Amino acid sequence: MESNIKKIAVLTSGGDAPGMNAAVRAVVRGALKQGFKVLGVKRGYQGLLEDDIVEMDAASVSDIIQKGGTVLKTARSSRFATKEGVETGARILREHEVDALVVIGGDGSFRGALDLSREGINLFCIPGTIDLDVACTDYTIGFDTACNTAMDAIDKIRDTSSSHGRCSIIEVMGRSAGYIATHCGIATGAEDVLIPELYNGDIEETIQKLCDHIEANKGAGKTHFLVVNAEGIGHSEYMAEKIQEKTGVKTVVTILGYIQRGGSPSCRDRFMATMMGVHTIDLMAMGYSNRVVAFKDGEIVDYDIQKALRMRKDMPQDITRVTRLLVRF
Ligand code: F6P
Repeated sequence: MESNIKKIAVLTSGGDAPGMNAAVRAVVRGALKQGFKVLGVKRGYQGLLEDDIVEMDAASVSDIIQKGGTVLKTARSSRFATKEGVETGARILREHEVDALVVIGGDGSFRGALDLSREGINLFCIPGTIDLDVACTDYTIGFDTACNTAMDAIDKIRDTSSSHGRCSIIEVMGRSAGYIATHCGIATGAEDVLIPELYNGDIEETIQKLCDHIEANKGAGKTHFLVVNAEGIGHSEYMAEKIQEKTGVKTVVTILGYIQRGGSPSCRDRFMATMMGVHTIDLMAMGYSNRVVAFKDGEIVDYDIQKALRMRKDMPQDITRVTRLLVRF
């Protein structure tokens, strides 16, 4: 296949994730090496619709590989979810003579990319989200840093929880997936890990199981308890109130929130972002179109964008097994 690409554009979209800058850097530098011109679209699809587009050179991505957030900024655009928005976005890209657009983001951003590809734009997607919930890939940029940030915070909460003999419920992000919760719960030795994938929707039953577990552990001499709860389940404050009422153990809640999205990316996030960015440019140079880059079975691979968005993934069974084994759910 021959590539006839002369100019590309790159944007970051949806929730920011540590390592997005490393991906932008790899895309920009890789593209320049191929002789492509590079444009940066600011603030995701929202910036595209407002024609907030700048030229990028090698220096535009200097000194960013170690930085959290995204130098291109990001946004969630409701206008881009409309037909008019997608058509306008495609028109603006054509006006800039963009031959291919790289979208770094999660599932929602990829759906926007699919819509743009249907308007004749050549799209390349790189998975960047702390949630790890993109079906076609075992790895998303930002997940590793977010888990390490959450793990560090939970370790600190353990110290004070243990000193005071309390039960601590720590709510972690992940949208409707429990990947951050399972990884951090296992890595911090939490007594219980609650994830949407194993939740039957009955909050009272869940609370009763937590209380039974706390009572059983109390009987065995344990004086403090860590519960990692995924935001996809929520209700942390209600759970705390009920646990304290039923067991008499002082129960406090920490919702970790946006701290999980920030900070300097881990080595793994920088490395994977760079590998995925370079793979994207390789695909373009080889003449491919409309691909999603992914990490599968230990390798960087790519899928047709439509196929990638049709894929589904379940929490790996070994993770749910270990989660169940170490805790009561
Ligand atoms: O997708 C990343 C994420 O941080 C989720 O974990 C969370 O549910 C969501 O974004 C929060 O989004 P917003 O920044 O729009 O509040």
